[in-house]
Amino acid sequence: MCGIVGYVGSNKNSVHVLIDGLKKLEYRGYDSAGIAYLENNKLNIIKSVGELKKLESKVNFGVSSNIGLGHTRWATHGIADEVNSHPHKVGKFTIVHNGIVENYNELRSKLKSEGYGFKSETDTEVVAALLDSIYKTNNDVLKSIRKMTDILDGSYALGIMCEDDNDTLYVAKNKSPLIIGVGEGDNYIASDVPAILDKTKKYIALEDGCYAKITSSEINLYKDGIKKDFNVEEFKYDASDISKKGYEHFMLKEMHEQPEVFRRTTNPYLESGIDSLIAKMPDFTKYGKIRIVACGSATHAGLVGKQMIEKFANAEVQVDTASEFRYCKQFLKEDELVIVVSQSGETADTLEALNIAKKNGNDTLGIINEKGSTIAREAKMVLYTEAGKEIAVATTKAYSAQVALLSLIALNLSYKKDLVDKKEIKEILEDANKLPGYIESLLNKEEDYKKIAEDIKDYNDIFFIGRGIDYALAMEGSLKLKEISYTHSEAYAAGELKHGTISLIDEGTPVVAIVTDDNIAPKTISNIKEVKSRGANVIYITNKKDENEDGFYDKKIVVPKVNYLLQPLLTVIPLQMVAYELAKLKGCSIDKPKNLAKSVTVE
Ligand code: G6P
Repeated sequence: MCGIVGYVGSNKNSVHVLIDGLKKLEYRGYDSAGIAYLENNKLNIIKSVGELKKLESKVNFGVSSNIGLGHTRWATHGIADEVNSHPHKVGKFTIVHNGIVENYNELRSKLKSEGYGFKSETDTEVVAALLDSIYKTNNDVLKSIRKMTDILDGSYALGIMCEDDNDTLYVAKNKSPLIIGVGEGDNYIASDVPAILDKTKKYIALEDGCYAKITSSEINLYKDGIKKDFNVEEFKYDASDISKKGYEHFMLKEMHEQPEVFRRTTNPYLESGIDSLIAKMPDFTKYGKIRIVACGSATHAGLVGKQMIEKFANAEVQVDTASEFRYCKQFLKEDELVIVVSQSGETADTLEALNIAKKNGNDTLGIINEKGSTIAREAKMVLYTEAGKEIAVATTKAYSAQVALLSLIALNLSYKKDLVDKKEIKEILEDANKLPGYIESLLNKEEDYKKIAEDIKDYNDIFFIGRGIDYALAMEGSLKLKEISYTHSEAYAAGELKHGTISLIDEGTPVVAIVTDDNIAPKTISNIKEVKSRGANVIYITNKKDENEDGFYDKKIVVPKVNYLLQPLLTVIPLQMVAYELAKLKGCSIDKPKNLAKSVTVE
C-alpha cells in the first residue's frame, strides 16, 4: 500500500534518496508517485501516474537538495491521477500521508468556510489545510501538529515540511506504520524498513499518538505535548535480504527459501524434541476454544491450522476473516484464545480484530513475521515466523511459516492432552527433518509446472477442489493463481460441486484436484470422476504414489507423503509453482500484481 520516505541532511542529495527509497517500496503496491524537495529554499513538487520510471524520467538528479519527502500512492480517495497523488501543498505545509482520515469530509467543509479551496479529492489535502489553518493562529509547528492530532480521526502516518522551517522534517503517527531512520549527519523517515535499509540500520519505531521534529542532527519526539525518551533500535535485515540474489523474481526466490524458512521457524521449538516444543509455547490447554482471525493468505493458513488443531488436538477452532469479524457479533467467550495471523503485523483489519479481542478481555496470540510491527507489539503473546523479509506481494514463504507454526501448536496441544503416542511423535520429528529436502525436490519439478501452465493458459476459469485440509489448500492455490496470473479461479469443497458449480465444467475446463488425506480420499476421487466424465482437464495433486485406477486425471503431481501435520507444507509447493509459471507465461507483473498491495494498512 502507500509508501513514505523522507530525508534531511547534508551528506546526500535528497532527490536520490527519495527516488531510491520509493523504488524499494514499490513492492508495497502503488498507482502514482511523487516527491517534494527544497533547492535553494525553493520547493519543487514532481508527480506522475503509473510506474516509478515515469517519475524518474521527470526528475533532475543534478539538483542540490538537503531535504525532501517522497510518496507512492495506492488510490483510496479519488482516482490515481497527478492531482490526487502526494505530496500535497496547502499554504505553508507540504504533506505526504499513509492511512485514511475518517472525518475529512466535515473538516473539508469547515476549512472551505475559512476560505480554503481544494484541488484534489484526497483526505491528505484536507490535513495540509487543517495544519495550515491552525498554524496561522499560533505560528508554532509542533503546537499545530499536536492540535491537529487532537482533531483528526482515523489512521495516519504523516511526513510534513513547513515553509518557515526549511531544515526540518516533521512526522505524526496514528495506526499507520512509520519509522525514523537515524543516520550520521542525516536522518530519514520511512513507512517501511526497505526504503532506508541501505542508508542506515538504526531506527526509532514510533508509537501511536507520537509526533516528532527531525533535523539533520537532532530528533525530538513528543506525545500529548510532552517530550518523550526513545530507544534507537537496529534492523536485523541487511540490504542483501531485499535483493533477488540471482532469481528472476522475488516470488521465485522466496519460494526457494521455504526449506530454510521451515528450519528457522521450527528449529527453536524442536531442537530438544517434544520437550522444547512444550517449554517454548504457551499453555493452550487452558482455552475452551481457539479463534483465528486474519486476512488473505493468512486466513488460508488459519484454515489449514483449524483442520490440524481440530483433528489432532480435538480442540474447537473457528476461523474468521478480519474484515468481517470486526463488524459482526463475535460471541467471544472469556476462555477463548484469539490468534491473529499476519506476515506484516500491520494489516488494518487484523489489528482491529486484535483490539476487539483485547477490549473483550480475551488472551491474544500473534503469529507474526515482522518483528516490532504494531500487532507484534500489541498482542499479549507472539510466536514469530522466521520467514525473513518477504518482498513479492503474493506471499509464499511467510504463508508456509504460518502453517508450520500452526502445526506445532496442534502438536503441542495434542501432546499435552495425551492424544498423540510416542511412535507418532517420532514419525513427526523424523518427517520434520526430511521436510526441507522434500520441499527442494518439489521446487525442482519446474518442467512439470511449466507443462501444466502451458496446458491451462488459454482458459479463463479454473477450479481447485479438495476436502478438509485439501480444501483449505485449494483456497490458497486458487488465490495465488488469481493474484499473479490474473486468471479467474475458484476453490470449491469437492463435495459441494454438484450443488451448482459443476454446470460450469466443460470440455477441457482445468480442475486442480488435491487429495492427500487418506480418510477422505475415496470421496474426493469420486468427485474428481464426476468432473472428468464431463470433460474436465484434471490436474491431480496427491501424496498417493500408486493409484490402481487410472483415467480420472490428465496430469499428476506426486508430493512425498508425510505426517498429516506437515503434509500441507509440501502440497502447497506445486500450487505456488503452477501459479508462478502461468503468470510468467502470460507475461504478468509477478512481484507487483496490478491493484494489489503487500501490506494493507487501510480497512
Ligand atoms: C495482502 C497481501 C496478502 C496477505 C494479506 C494479509 O492482501 O497481498 O499476501 O496474505 O494482505 O497480510 P498480512 O501481512 O496480514 O499477512
